[in-house]
Amino acid sequence: MNPTTNDSDSSAAPESNGPFLPFAELSPGSHSRRDFVRRGAACMAMGFFAERLAADTPTPIGTKDLPFHFKGVPISTEDMVQVPEGYVAEVVYGWGDPVNGQGPAFLRGAANTAEEQALQAGMGHDGMQWFPWPGDDEGRSDRGLLVMNHEYTDQGLLFPDGLEPMTKEKVAKCQAAHGVSVIAIAFQDGSWKVVPSPWTRRITATTPMKLTGPAAGSRHLISSTDPAGDTALGTFNNCASGKTPWGTYLACEENFHGYFGTEAPDFAPTVEQRRYGLSAPGGQSEEEPKRSLYQWWKHDERFDLAKHPEEAYRCGYVVEIDPTDPGAIPRKHTALGRFKHENAAVTLSRDQRVVIYLGDDEKNEYIYKFVSSDRYDPSNRTGNLKLLETGTLHVARFLPGGKGEWIPLIQGRHGLTEENGFAKQDDIAVHTRQAADRVGATMMDRPEWISVHPHSKEVFVTLTNNSQRGKQEPSVNPIDGSAIAGKSQPPVDAANPRTNNVFGHILKWAEDDGDAAAAAFTWDRFLLAGDPGLDSPETTEKVDIIGDPFGSPDGLTFDPRGILWIQTDVSTKTLHKKEYANLGNNMMLAADPVTKTVRRFLTGPNGCEITGLTFTPDLKTMFVNIQHPGEPPTDVSDHTQPTAVSQWPDMAAGDRPRPATVAISRKDGGLIGM
Ligand code: FEO
Ligand code: CA
Ligand code: CA
Repeated sequence: MNPTTNDSDSSAAPESNGPFLPFAELSPGSHSRRDFVRRGAACMAMGFFAERLAADTPTPIGTKDLPFHFKGVPISTEDMVQVPEGYVAEVVYGWGDPVNGQGPAFLRGAANTAEEQALQAGMGHDGMQWFPWPGDDEGRSDRGLLVMNHEYTDQGLLFPDGLEPMTKEKVAKCQAAHGVSVIAIAFQDGSWKVVPSPWTRRITATTPMKLTGPAAGSRHLISSTDPAGDTALGTFNNCASGKTPWGTYLACEENFHGYFGTEAPDFAPTVEQRRYGLSAPGGQSEEEPKRSLYQWWKHDERFDLAKHPEEAYRCGYVVEIDPTDPGAIPRKHTALGRFKHENAAVTLSRDQRVVIYLGDDEKNEYIYKFVSSDRYDPSNRTGNLKLLETGTLHVARFLPGGKGEWIPLIQGRHGLTEENGFAKQDDIAVHTRQAADRVGATMMDRPEWISVHPHSKEVFVTLTNNSQRGKQEPSVNPIDGSAIAGKSQPPVDAANPRTNNVFGHILKWAEDDGDAAAAAFTWDRFLLAGDPGLDSPETTEKVDIIGDPFGSPDGLTFDPRGILWIQTDVSTKTLHKKEYANLGNNMMLAADPVTKTVRRFLTGPNGCEITGLTFTPDLKTMFVNIQHPGEPPTDVSDHTQPTAVSQWPDMAAGDRPRPATVAISRKDGGLIGM
């Protein structure tokens, strides 16, 4: 989640929960067998404390009837990764670690150059997927490719001298710290290691890309620098992800608006720019006075809204990357719409068309569904690689009484006419939010991840929170597309039932006739998140979690057995305060989609968000991303005190926190969660 879209309030700092052991020895790059044994000892000790402190949390219930069998962990405010008794967690790939496992090495003091950063892990580890090592049997689980997003950067940690002043070199390093990593990993000598491979690469905010679909070659994209209107440079603010049946990775571009800005004194954003949050200062910190977080436009002219207004039309898409072909140009598929994409949940219709569920993560935005025109053919990968170029995008309308409908966003239908600003399909592809406004889509409480149950095909979505819901005076996104991003104040409705939804909720739906391409669906609430212990009727009376409390659900992933994994993203200015006073650091939980029982599996270090989740095919290793450890409520770390909030994962051996991928396994080699 980009800090510029979080919201909340502040008060007192948290108290410590007790004597947890930090993973001091879990620094990236130190993976000897001895270290692995030491980790085991640390985890055993941690397990002891977890056991002692588990009395503070609800007792696991109905264990033998649940799809998971681990012992839950307590809420934590400790600067560590806490996992259940009998599990170990090891850091595999932290910011600055060489992408090929060899070099250039991460330098203390954030001393690496932009060129070095482009050969190392970026910051802000987010969505992530496992792919088989090319040529291996698909079930092989001791080596593979990991592909992950690097969503955003903390300028106070990225540069030796912090955010100010922004220089050309610093912009270049920042751009190199964004994008995607394709890494090869192998389990060797008792631990996971990044290893060299022909497929290893970094994709950054300057990597050449192609655009496909209705907007490619359109008047919106043609410019002096791109007369064909079908190329883009780079991808950034890649939030969560998706994986196709033909083995490609989908990186979703979320809060792209924050990187654009201008110093032109007469600049005023157009209606279309305001609908996406584009503004002269770009993304800003959460302090007074606010500071522009990125300032790329000062040294890279294409990000200057006054000089290159068309450049923002090259962002806000789903990007398809082929991890098995390092020469393949990543493609931005405009048929899937332009908005602040969270993830891409891929499934197949009854007739084998590709269906992708998509959330637009901002207050009062919408849930979408793409249905490809052509069918998936397992024997034709070349053909499959074109499936996301042509299809129909739909947007969801949640009706009272549990029914819902998918409204196709097709030029000429449902008011998407020339007189309303939609002369061609390319207008819908780039002004997707306005098209959805026009057809009367349902404003949601910040749609984050969507996941499809592997057996029932029910679809679940996290609605993380919405401080604008139910505010007076009520207002909705007008059908003429003139809303300022995130500013409407919609009344509560059946699918978004809470005023000032601080804790968020999870909905589910089933497509008519069990066909993912259906035009209608039946929906229900899965659970309303929160802390039932609070004495605050407006936020607690509807909490219906059975088990461990949490708030602000974001990451959401069904594993192949049907266990629903939930990851939280309580913003750092909200963490530990007010309604969140008792909920500790961000966490990951397992949920039973049938009984709604929820059990806490992991807690993260200070200032972090938990996001990104994938498994080895044998389900014996789980990879989780720890994003922005150390982030302060202002969103920018103090470069003079980079360890003020967190030292994770290097602890005393490091000089600043680093986001990182963690591999979690059982000490007895068993299945995760069982
Ligand atoms: Fe990047 Fe919506 O979280
Ligand atoms: Ca989020
Ligand atoms: Ca997210």
